[in-house]
Amino acid sequence: MKTLVLVFHPNMAKSRANAALKAAAQALPADSDATVTVRDEYAQYPDGNIDVAAEQQLIEAHDRIVLQFPLYWYSSPALLKEWEDQVLAFGWAYGPDGKALEGKEITVATTAGGPESEYQTEDNGATMREVLSPYRMMARYVHATWREPFVVFGSMELSDETLAETAKQYQAFLTD
Ligand SMILES: Cc1cc2nc3c(=O)[nH]c(=O)nc-3n(C[C@H](O)[C@H](O)[C@H](O)COP(=O)(O)O)c2cc1C
Repeated sequence: MKTLVLVFHPNMAKSRANAALKAAAQALPADSDATVTVRDEYAQYPDGNIDVAAEQQLIEAHDRIVLQFPLYWYSSPALLKEWEDQVLAFGWAYGPDGKALEGKEITVATTAGGPESEYQTEDNGATMREVLSPYRMMARYVHATWREPFVVFGSMELSDETLAETAKQYQAFLTD
């Protein structure tokens, strides 16, 4: 299984949670059965100009796409939305000839500042499954297989030990 982790964090230099997850993904031993490619998309496109052909080629070369980002306003940082709008193009991702993602696996890895207890319908108004539904629906639309996301709650209050344990769980998630 070839896994592509696309990291969307607008200020990686100040990140703790996503930086730890990214480092864990990068630290996976190179192994022919579970290749993990990690790309920092904001570093790749500091001016926001996405190389659509390069992104599409990367997706074509992998079986599983992981969209990793900190949860911002119950959504993602802006570059991920732009990435979806440009890369998941008609005739490539959808439409009569758009089958590039068919059969691939798509999932999300996100860090939320709020605790898990906040992501209940009766408290915050929505569960995390509901918050992440645009990604699930996107995967469905392009005929990919949706995998249950990797979610880190309380991301700003994790102890060093918990963050290290979470990073290990992320490695297992990526290689499972
Ligand atoms: C602009 C902005 C919007 C945010 N919106 C949310 C939100 O809607 N829900 C939430 O749980 N946390 C929210 N947070 C907290 C971030 O999710 C948190 O800072 C991030 O997960 C920490 O990861 P990092 O250490 O990689 O930056 C927001 C933070 C920022 C800066």
